Amino acid sequence: MDIGRTKIINIFIMFFIVAAISFFSVANILVPKDVAAAENPSCVTDKCHANMGKEEYVHGPASVGQCTICHEPTAKHEFTPITNVGNLCNECHDKQFTGKNIHPPVQEGDCTGCHDPHQSPYEFFLLGEGEKLCFICHDSGLAGEKHVHGPVAEGGCSVCHSPHESDFPKLLMAEGNDVCFYCHEDKADAFQEKKHMHYPVEDGCVECHNPHSGPFENNLAADGRRELCFACHDDMQEHVGELKVKHAGLETDKLCLACHDPHVADYANQLIMQPAELCLSCHDRQYTSGDKVVVADMKTILEQNKNYHGPIQQNDCSACHNPHGSNNFRMLQEPFPELFYAPYQASNYNLCFMCHENTIAEEKLTTTLTGFRNGDQNLHFVHVNKSPKGRTCRSCHDAHATNNPKHLRDEVPFGAWQLPINFEKTETGGKCLPGCHQLFGYDRGKPVNNR
Ligand code: HEC
Ligand code: HEC
Ligand code: HEC
Ligand code: HEC
Ligand code: HEC
Ligand code: HEC
Ligand code: HEC
Ligand code: HEC
Ligand code: HEC
Ligand code: HEC
Ligand code: HEC
Ligand code: HEC
Ligand code: HEC
Repeated sequence: MDIGRTKIINIFIMFFIVAAISFFSVANILVPKDVAAAENPSCVTDKCHANMGKEEYVHGPASVGQCTICHEPTAKHEFTPITNVGNLCNECHDKQFTGKNIHPPVQEGDCTGCHDPHQSPYEFFLLGEGEKLCFICHDSGLAGEKHVHGPVAEGGCSVCHSPHESDFPKLLMAEGNDVCFYCHEDKADAFQEKKHMHYPVEDGCVECHNPHSGPFENNLAADGRRELCFACHDDMQEHVGELKVKHAGLETDKLCLACHDPHVADYANQLIMQPAELCLSCHDRQYTSGDKVVVADMKTILEQNKNYHGPIQQNDCSACHNPHGSNNFRMLQEPFPELFYAPYQASNYNLCFMCHENTIAEEKLTTTLTGFRNGDQNLHFVHVNKSPKGRTCRSCHDAHATNNPKHLRDEVPFGAWQLPINFEKTETGGKCLPGCHQLFGYDRGKPVNNR
């Protein structure tokens, strides 16, 4: 059948329906009821199919009693099932489904899976309202988790899905994250402004958020502050769990989100602040246990000491500390002795030797390896390279910041005592009057005789 003929037939049918409506209105007034029933071309009488046409929405052909347009009348008045409902509907509606994705019941011509052919309390003669229609076939558990997404709670499946067909996967109204940005406009703008996007966000918001409902806040499958992270970063879960020195910074109310943004960030590694500022946002106070200061106020230390060590000038606390904890003292990336004395072994000082040459403490005599020498006598070797009582780097240097040159400390804890160092730098050497010995000097050109 060509299109022209279909149209003509449709127009004819419409004409027929309109004619039938007029006929009925007149017939109902003029003809007594039982007579009307006998001659009624429709099957609707007080006794038969009496409810037909009583619902709020009645399908055009049914409203005018044109039962036989769809139903084959049989002599015995037996109901003959309609074999191809889809074709039947299309005889009048001529719905062409050309989208890339067609909803299976539509594809299969199961129009009555959703539409009542006759009438219904709901618009478009639907079999149910809002989500109830969809739940005829789909598991209502989909929207049944504790946290239900706004539009789903309102029953609006069709704000996101098209019931018949769509050019996009999953019958969605738009592609990928655009579905979400349609309503969460603010996020679209905010996300565009930031430099770093968390990989799964590019993949799709639904990598983390269930668009319908989820057992945890924000429709997440797990607590978004940590468990969710571990679902993908599973290597980290094991790693962090087994560490000897844990960072209490991971255990605040916000857990991982104290430092990371799950979506986008201005800073690498999804950090919510410039890295050093981030550390100092918590380390701007002393942490105490009883009367004892267990962690010093690093922000104040940095404010009071202007000579910053290289990595701190670069705002890179993670150069030395593992922010998630480590097996080393003070969650350092590499070993570094905790105390004033330690037997010398280069591996004890791996932290410093990540960036500095270990030869500064290994050659007894040198004229090049270190400025801390008296003539060619390597004073690093003298102090550090001893067993069991080698002086550790901390005895003289501070890893963060000092007011002295060469990151020499003013004083160093020695048991309960703050042992002073009294370092003075000169053009060609220096001198110290520490709590360890009398005033000693050193000079790289003309060795000082300290005896
Ligand atoms: C637009 C087409 C159409 C019209 C008009 C129509 N029907 Fe139907 N009817 C259907 C379809 C489709 C089915 C479901 C058939 C199936 O699943 O096999 C159906 C099913 C039925 C059934 C059996 C199931 C049920 O709902 O109880 C009856 C009875 C019925 N129709 C009566 C009528 C009467 C009476 C009229 C006229 C007032 C009418 N129909 C008008 C399409 C139509
Ligand atoms: C005999 C012709 C005919 C057949 C067959 C037919 N319809 Fe209709 N349908 C109509 C007419 C006429 C209207 C009213 C048109 C209008 O109001 O714009 C209508 C209206 C509708 C509407 C409401 C449309 C709107 O925009 O409000 C839906 C939904 C619908 N039909 C679904 C179906 C389904 C599903 C089938 C198959 C079971 C079907 N129709 C079969 C003639 C038909
Ligand atoms: C999964 C449920 C579902 C199935 C199956 C379905 N529809 Fe619909 N249909 C709807 C809903 C819901 C609407 C309401 C309007 C909307 O949201 O687009 C609708 C609206 C309509 C309309 C009126 C609006 C329009 O788009 O013109 C027609 C006509 C229609 N459907 C015809 C059909 C036909 C013909 C079939 C079978 C080929 C069919 N539908 C199968 C759910 C369905
Ligand atoms: C008559 C049964 C029926 C009804 C009613 C129904 N669906 Fe479906 N739907 C199916 C079937 C069958 C599939 C394919 C199997 C599956 O994915 O479960 C499907 C698949 C889907 C899919 C996945 C499509 C894809 O490309 O993977 C979506 C989304 C969907 N339906 C949404 C809806 C929405 C929204 C409603 C309500 C407007 C609805 N369905 C009502 C039967 C139905
Ligand atoms: C906020 C938009 C939105 C709303 C509202 C919504 N959905 Fe979805 N739905 C989606 C997205 C996005 C997907 C694809 C998820 C994915 O790819 O993992 C989807 C997928 C589906 C699927 C396919 C599931 C699968 O595993 O393939 C079904 C079925 C479905 N939705 C049904 C519904 C029903 C029923 C409702 C109403 C209760 C509804 N949706 C409301 C966005 C929505
Ligand atoms: C039709 C509009 C609409 C669409 C599309 C939409 N949302 Fe929503 N979303 C809302 C509304 C409304 C809320 C509730 C806001 C509130 O309560 O403040 C919400 C809340 C949320 C929340 C916070 C949850 C909560 O309980 O407060 C998340 C997360 C979310 N949406 C993610 C998504 C994702 C992911 C998508 C894309 C799959 C999406 N939204 C698509 C309207 C939408
Ligand atoms: C890696 C997982 C992940 C991905 C992917 C993701 N989110 Fe989120 N989202 C979260 C977490 C975790 C929270 C909770 C944040 C909090 O509690 O501060 C959240 C919260 C939200 C909220 C509610 C709180 C707020 O910030 O307004 C919205 C809305 C939201 N996400 C939208 C989106 C959208 C839109 C996308 C895709 C462009 C997306 N999310 C992708 C993990 C994710
Ligand atoms: C759906 C899986 C998934 C979830 C959930 C997830 N991530 Fe990711 N994340 C990735 C992938 C994939 C990458 C990129 C590959 C990589 O570096 O391992 C990544 C990278 C990262 C990065 C490094 C970014 C960079 O610039 O290299 C950080 C930091 C991160 N995620 C933190 C988190 C946090 C915190 C959470 C919990 C709120 C989380 N992730 C949840 C998959 C996920
Ligand atoms: C105290 C702040 C802080 C907390 C809390 C935190 N991180 Fe990090 N995270 C960082 C910093 C800083 C980096 C960058 C390290 C670097 O520059 O090498 C980072 C890097 C990462 C990376 C990418 C590099 C890598 O190590 O694989 C991932 C993934 C990551 N964090 C996941 C998490 C997860 C999951 C949690 C919660 C268990 C978490 N983070 C908690 C500060 C934190
Ligand atoms: C969200 C707050 C917070 C952030 C951000 C934070 N920390 Fe911490 N940090 C703590 C808390 C709390 C402690 C434990 C204090 C205590 O022991 O009472 C701690 C302890 C430490 C310790 C001592 C660990 C030990 O047990 O010896 C170091 C070192 C440290 N943090 C370094 C850092 C660095 C480097 C950063 C930035 C990557 C950082 N912190 C970011 C809260 C934070
Ligand atoms: C060059 C390596 C290095 C860098 C870079 C570094 N640290 Fe440290 N940090 C250490 C060492 C070594 C210790 C142990 C010092 C000690 O016990 O004397 C330490 C100890 C700490 C402590 C405990 C302080 C105490 O004694 O109570 C905090 C807090 C701390 N660092 C925070 C930071 C912050 C914040 C940054 C970045 C601004 C940072 N660190 C950068 C090496 C470093
Ligand atoms: C991540 C690399 C890195 C690590 C680890 C590191 N340093 Fe440094 N250090 C530097 C850089 C870069 C400079 C040069 C800038 C400056 O003067 O701070 C420097 C300079 C120094 C200086 C002064 C040099 C001069 O000529 O002024 C001393 C002393 C020093 N570091 C001691 C240490 C000690 C002790 C450790 C171990 C606790 C250590 N460093 C760990 C990078 C590092
Ligand atoms: C007894 C005190 C003392 C100890 C212990 C000590 N240093 Fe030094 N260090 C100095 C002095 C003093 C200078 C300054 C030399 C100069 O330029 O006059 C210095 C300079 C440095 C420099 C700058 C480059 C150079 O060698 O001149 C580095 C790097 C350095 N020390 C690293 C270390 C490391 C790593 C340790 C531990 C393995 C360590 N120091 C232990 C006193 C010490």
